[in-house]
Amino acid sequence: MCGIVGYIGPRKAYPILMEGLKRLEYRGYDSTGIALLERDGVVVCKSAGKLPALISCTEAEDYQANVGIGHTRWATHGEPNDANAHPHTGMTGRIAVVHNGIIENYSALREVLKRQGRIFKTETDTEVLAHLIEEYHNGNLLQAVRRALSQVEGTYGIAVLSSDNPDVIVAARQGSPIVIGCGDGENLVASDVAALLRYTNRVVYLEDGELAEVTADSFSISTLEEVEVTPHLEEISWNLDMIEKGGFDHFMLKEIFEQPETLKNAMRGRLNFEEATARLNGLNLQYDELHHIKRIIITACGTSWHAGLLGEYLIEEYARIPVEIEYASEFRYRSPIIDPGTIVFVISQSGETADTLAAMREARRKGATCLGICNVVGSTIARESDGGVYIHAGPEIGVASTKAFTSQMMVLSLITILLARMRSMSFDEGEKLLRAISEVPDRVKDVLELNDRIKELAEKYYNMNNFLYLGRGVNFPIALEGALKLKEISYIHAEGYPAAEMKHGPIALIDDNMPVVVMAPQDSVYNKILSNMEEIKARRGRIVAVATKGDKKIAEIADDVIYLPRVNSFVLPLIGIIPLQLLAYHIAELRNCDVDQPRNLAKSVTVE
Ligand code: AGP
Repeated sequence: MCGIVGYIGPRKAYPILMEGLKRLEYRGYDSTGIALLERDGVVVCKSAGKLPALISCTEAEDYQANVGIGHTRWATHGEPNDANAHPHTGMTGRIAVVHNGIIENYSALREVLKRQGRIFKTETDTEVLAHLIEEYHNGNLLQAVRRALSQVEGTYGIAVLSSDNPDVIVAARQGSPIVIGCGDGENLVASDVAALLRYTNRVVYLEDGELAEVTADSFSISTLEEVEVTPHLEEISWNLDMIEKGGFDHFMLKEIFEQPETLKNAMRGRLNFEEATARLNGLNLQYDELHHIKRIIITACGTSWHAGLLGEYLIEEYARIPVEIEYASEFRYRSPIIDPGTIVFVISQSGETADTLAAMREARRKGATCLGICNVVGSTIARESDGGVYIHAGPEIGVASTKAFTSQMMVLSLITILLARMRSMSFDEGEKLLRAISEVPDRVKDVLELNDRIKELAEKYYNMNNFLYLGRGVNFPIALEGALKLKEISYIHAEGYPAAEMKHGPIALIDDNMPVVVMAPQDSVYNKILSNMEEIKARRGRIVAVATKGDKKIAEIADDVIYLPRVNSFVLPLIGIIPLQLLAYHIAELRNCDVDQPRNLAKSVTVE
């Protein structure tokens, strides 16, 4: 997600902004920029790439401004290039805006502004905001921002400055954090305290729907409805390292706990309840092209491959389209058959995985339409594909993928509904699944509350050297992903299997040193799973069952049970993976492994 920092006070703003941006780098970004209120107006400097690129084009300048704003951008709308980097200005260049969040109705707003004669320079949603503020600005910057935001749907954390109002910075929050740093004769605004801590530990957090007018020695807070708000001053006791991890011990745990929010972002603006379908404009496919899809190939690596396997199960079951999931490293060399009407979905969090990129290029060479499901906007796979869907999970710092996986599954669930509703799925069925999807973030929150219980389980099993993970149907990809999470961060050997497959060999491994994690929700294959569990018990195997809340029977067989809330089986994988992520995390912690940077692993495997 993007980073924001602003300064107003007696000191030069430039060094303070650059220090603040450096403190925000950990959030992940792909471009950066600053705006300064110099004597002759607003000066903006911004560039694609990392902070050194911005430093190289600013350090020689002798900036005098003592008011400025800065930004690190994690691209959501528009490539990570110089033009799309923040700050954004309108047409007069007298106002500059930095923004964290997604403005859902930016296209409609942009069309209205274009009809009023406004000319746009970028593809971003944020530039629309700059034009809106400029449109409403008649001397009072706070009022102009308030009026502009009253038109906006979506999420924002913003900071705004204007050469017509050199003594203020205006900030506002809706869904993306904004915090005011209260100094002595100076004030700061930022998206998180990491950018402020060097200057003050006294902060005021804005709440959703609030705006702040910040001067060098004061600030006031009010709502969009112009209701004054009494600030609540807090003192930060965290150190910087803790702040970058949001108070969590590791990025991986932070990212596991971000999933209610990242899943909301993955579905934001994409649930079309009026037509009981999904809205995925980025696919760039016309209705008849979507109608005439005859076959789907999904290709990916690692965790993304597990998401793709779920995609196969869902699309075949609900949309009745033949789907094959392919390891990208195999697909690229085995001369795949690509016939007319074949669509290839290419799943990659980084958008840079060498095997996946090569697989996509091979498919395109053979005439396939390739659609990317990526997290990094402007990544190679995203750019070279014929269209696609961004998962909007924000930067995933932990090498072991967690929030990207659930957002990949979310997007595949939405693609399933879109395709199914064009075929045999009824309005009522579509509406029911959309409702189930909309409730997923809250259900994930429910499961995250089991963290302490799962930590206790980890204490019971962390000394084991082998694990089996079993699941049937849509829970088989979850078993695979649970096993991968454990092995890649704890270095314990773990294998995922279709539960029934255990009889064809793996059952020889079962003894009291082989814990078996079994996905055992009360779904259509529940009784089959119970039989598999009995087979394990008969061989003194130890079972950790992931079951449905209220299931009394399961505890008679399993040694330990993690209960999930009862949900529609369509969305069960989205919450079923959460306890397995936490179990892997806590076991790795107990084994003193480097959770965020496991040995031998890279976050993006850009080599064969
Ligand atoms: C997942 O925890 C691993 N880090 C790894 O399997 C990863 O999923 C795989 O390398 C694919 O990466 P991508 O999604 O960026 O293409």
